[in-house]
This record gives sequence, structure tokens and C-alpha cells, in this order.
Amino acid sequence: MTERRFSLGAIPGPRVLRNAAVGLFAAAFLTTAGPLFAADANPDHDAKMKWFREAKFGMFIHWGIYSVPAGEWDGKTNYAEWFQLQTKMPNAQYEKFAAQFDPVKFNARQWVRVAKDAGMKYLVITSKHHDGFSMYNTAFSDYNVVKATPWHHDPMKDLAAACKEAGIKFCFYYSIADWHYPDVPAQYNQRGFHGAPNPDADVLKYADYMRHQVHELLTGYGPIGIIWFDGGGAFRSVNRKTLLKADAMVDMIHQTQPACLINNRLGAGADYGTPEQKIPTGKQKEDFEVCMTLNNHWGYNKHDQHWKSATTIIRNLADIAHKGGNYLLNVGPTAEGLFPPPSVEILGAVGQWMKVNGDSIYGTTASPWPEIPNWGRITAKGNRLYLHVFERPEDGVIRLAGLKTLPRGAQFLAYRGGGAPPTCRLDGSDLLVQLPATLPEAADSAIELRFAKAPEITAEKSNQNTAH
Ligand code: GLC
Repeated sequence: MTERRFSLGAIPGPRVLRNAAVGLFAAAFLTTAGPLFAADANPDHDAKMKWFREAKFGMFIHWGIYSVPAGEWDGKTNYAEWFQLQTKMPNAQYEKFAAQFDPVKFNARQWVRVAKDAGMKYLVITSKHHDGFSMYNTAFSDYNVVKATPWHHDPMKDLAAACKEAGIKFCFYYSIADWHYPDVPAQYNQRGFHGAPNPDADVLKYADYMRHQVHELLTGYGPIGIIWFDGGGAFRSVNRKTLLKADAMVDMIHQTQPACLINNRLGAGADYGTPEQKIPTGKQKEDFEVCMTLNNHWGYNKHDQHWKSATTIIRNLADIAHKGGNYLLNVGPTAEGLFPPPSVEILGAVGQWMKVNGDSIYGTTASPWPEIPNWGRITAKGNRLYLHVFERPEDGVIRLAGLKTLPRGAQFLAYRGGGAPPTCRLDGSDLLVQLPATLPEAADSAIELRFAKAPEITAEKSNQNTAH
């Protein structure tokens, strides 16, 4: 299988004059994953971020030819999308999985329906993972789903159409690590791995290849919400920005689809941060999106049955929203093109909760208080506050310190058609919310407090309802 060499010219290169960076977002992004970033000083930044900030919940999909071995090889059962590196398999052997990739059960509308029914508003799918296999019809490499598989089909066309139809933002993951492309020097990949190491590899040519591929993704599939770069640890202690011509990439994206967001794993142009598998412990100064698996793997692993419960997902979503972020939750489809049934089941249960309680998540901003209550989480939206009650305090009272105003209305979102509302009273400068003896939802009983105007909090913190 060969990647085609190509000549430059068809796509825009770096702008001669770059916008002067004024007033860079200064605060460092302190999370466990992803490099620090400063969002480009871009007057359109807030406008671009609007849909993302409202969306809150997205689906991640890791799908590639690694789903053929389905996580198992040579008696070991812990593989997924890192299969080729972990088995140190040469390209000539790994490429054979492409010949077995025939996902005849794939149905883009069904996938998108699962996302939509779960309450997800955007979908990010692997266009090319670290194995270098393009899951779309690229002109720059024959190592792709149309040319190298018996399926001869571009699933991204169907997904783009299905997302458009369902009102879901369509987004692409794109790996900067590549274990297959001949112009990636092995030493830049994770653990120095390449499936066919090439001493003459010219990384600058790889940078052009990447830019051409991303340009294809931005011109062949309609409006793209995000280009979601991922290095997975590649290009680490080197000047990634220069080697990968990251500024030229960013310029090309901005010129081709000005509304497209860029995550923070390219090394330039970051619109938001991407903590991985871990929710930050507190509120963040920057926009962020926590990506997480539903079981223990991103790609399909038939042995992995360590599924998170719907309750965990719902509480994670509330926890992330309390801190001001988004939740990008992963599904790893099979080589037949199906979502694993437990994924569908869990997401269905999350969707049931979202249908009733979605107002407490969509379009919300972080809790106005600095702390995390021990009974649950808090989100805010205009003149409303949402209390996400995970556990009923023993005395049934939630104290909101420094909120000296009685709300005009208080209701459990689950009881919108009736049912006992919580009652509110003032205690000095605090608002007390009295809960009934039993709560409507096991995972998160969301309460909406509606005020005459956006509530103001005067106290620094509440000691009675917070865990430290
Ligand atoms: C990690 C994994 C990679 C996955 C990514 C998603 O970097 O190594 O396989 O795609 O997380 O954020």
C-alpha cells in the first residue's frame, strides 16, 4: 500500500501577514492532559465557540481497521486502537486487516440516532488514527477505506449527511502521530515506532500531507464543527509546531472553514482544552471538553465489559457542566459497523434523563460558587440556577450561601407536569432549599430555580453544603 506523493499548490499556505496576536488568553490551562494553550486572540472566538458552549455533550467515535482483531492477538486481550504499536506489527502485516474490513452492517443514520437520542449535539469521528489508515476517501493515500477494503465505501459521506439531517455538528478527529506514512521519522512517533521505518523520511513532507488531508476533510463533507487533533504522545520533546507546520495548518483551517474550531493538541490555534479520562477538580478559566471512554478502551475491544453506568455518565456530565466544560463520550464500533449493545443501552438511559433534565445542562455556565457541594452540582443559565441533587442531605436542606433572593419559581425538572416542588426560604444572607423526603431521579434530580434576574451571590463560600 502506498501513499501518494503530491505537489503543493492546490491549497492555501500560511498567510503572509498573520493577525497580530493581541490580548492572548493568559491563564494557563491546568489539567492532567494536553499541553497548555492560549486561545488565539481572535475577535470571532466567542462567536465561534457559541454552539460548542451550548452543546455540552458530544459523541466521540474511534473506528478503524484495528476493530478487525477486536482487541485480541496472540492470547492477549487488551488491545484496541494502539494494536499496531503494541504488537510492533510491521505495515505489511497490519495492512491485511484492511482487506478484512467489511462493515456491511454500518448504518450512519442509526449511529447518529443513538447520539441524538442520548442528547448529544455533536459527533467527532476518527478520520485517521495513529495507525495512519484513512477512514475516508483521500486522494493522498491509497491506504484508505475506499481503496484498501472490500467495502469500497466512504462512511464519512453518510455520517456527514446523517448528522446534517439530524442537526448534529459533524467533526473530525485527526492523528498527528502516524505509524504508516513513509515520511514520518520513527523517532517522532510514540516509543519510536513505525510500521516500516524509513531513514529518508522527511517530516516536512508529512506536514504537507497532513495539511492536504485536513483540507480534504474540510472541503468534502460540508461544514465541520471541530478538527480534533491528537498526538497520543508523539512529537513530544521536539518542536512540533515547526516540524508539523502547525501555523500553516491553522491558517488553512481558518481560511477554508472560518467557523471550524481547533482543539489544543496540534500545538497551535487552540480554541479549547481537552482533559482526557479525568474531570478537572475545579472550575477552569478556559473552555474545555473532557473526553472519556464508556468502558476501558477507545477502539473496539470485544473482551472489555467494564462499562460505566448511566448514573456515572449523568453525574459526570453534571460535574463537568458545573465546572464549565463539555463532555465528549466515546463509542468504539465493531468491524461489522455496529455500536456495542451496552453502549447503546447506557446512552439510551442517559438520553431518558436528558430529555427531562436537559435544560439543566445545555447552554449552562459553571456554578457561581467556588466550591463543589457534597450533595451534588450546580449550573447556571441567565436568571436560572440548576441544582443537581445526587444525594439528599440528611436534613433535606440545601443551603446556598450569599444568595439573598427568593426565586420566583422552584421545580424539579422531572416534575414539570406536577409533583411536589422544593420549598425555599431565606436564612439571613442564605437561601435554603428544602427537599421532599424522596427525590424524583436516582442519578441526578435537577431543580430549576428561576429568579427575577440573574442571581447575585455575595458570600465567598458556603461552608454547610460543601465538601473539600
Ligand atoms: C489517547 C489515546 C488515543 C485516543 C485519544 C483520545 O491519546 O492514546 O488512542 O485516540 O486518547 O483522546
